[in-house]
Amino acid sequence: MAVTARHAAAVAALDLDGTEDVLEIGCGHGVAVRLVLERLTTGRIVALDRSQAMIDRVLTIADDRITTRLGALEHVDLGDQRFDAIFAVNLDLNLRMGAVWTTIIQRILRPAGRLVLAFEAPPGSAKGEVFARTCVERLGMEGFAVERLAADNPLVLLRAMRTAAAFP
Ligand SMILES: C[S@@+](CC[C@H](N)C(=O)[O-])C[C@H]1O[C@@H](n2cnc3c(N)ncnc32)[C@H](O)[C@@H]1O
Repeated sequence: MAVTARHAAAVAALDLDGTEDVLEIGCGHGVAVRLVLERLTTGRIVALDRSQAMIDRVLTIADDRITTRLGALEHVDLGDQRFDAIFAVNLDLNLRMGAVWTTIIQRILRPAGRLVLAFEAPPGSAKGEVFARTCVERLGMEGFAVERLAADNPLVLLRAMRTAAAFP
């Protein structure tokens, strides 16, 4: 599968310095995983997907900085693993999980970590704006400040970081 503008924009928005522990939720074929690897030095990436077929595709990438995890975000046990950067491309976490995913992100993202969500709805569809509104609202309730980054329509690109209020 080819690199698209949404994959490139999502990985650029992570603003990696190369040393981070990164999580991609819904990694699919691993297109963005490859882009992240180009930017990592000592860092590592966990590629999570609920589809065995997708995980099998990522396993074809020969790079020991990747760990694959099979499972849905809402069910997988990540133990005490924490991440500096978490992202998802074309995955609407609101659909099946309600607001639960924001609590999970709050738990697994390190304090100064960032979350990037890139979502490209079909042209003319309202789904992108609904996605943006819902994410901003739900992340805000969890103590995140959400920035909407410039992106060519219809791509919605969000970057979230914790506000001071989110720290216990
Ligand atoms: C539309 S595809 C996008 C794939 C990839 N991110 C891309 O843009 O090329 C969505 C992917 O997310 C996975 N997925 C859906 N819900 C998930 C969840 N709750 N947890 C983990 N993966 C999920 C699907 O199996 C699928 O591979």
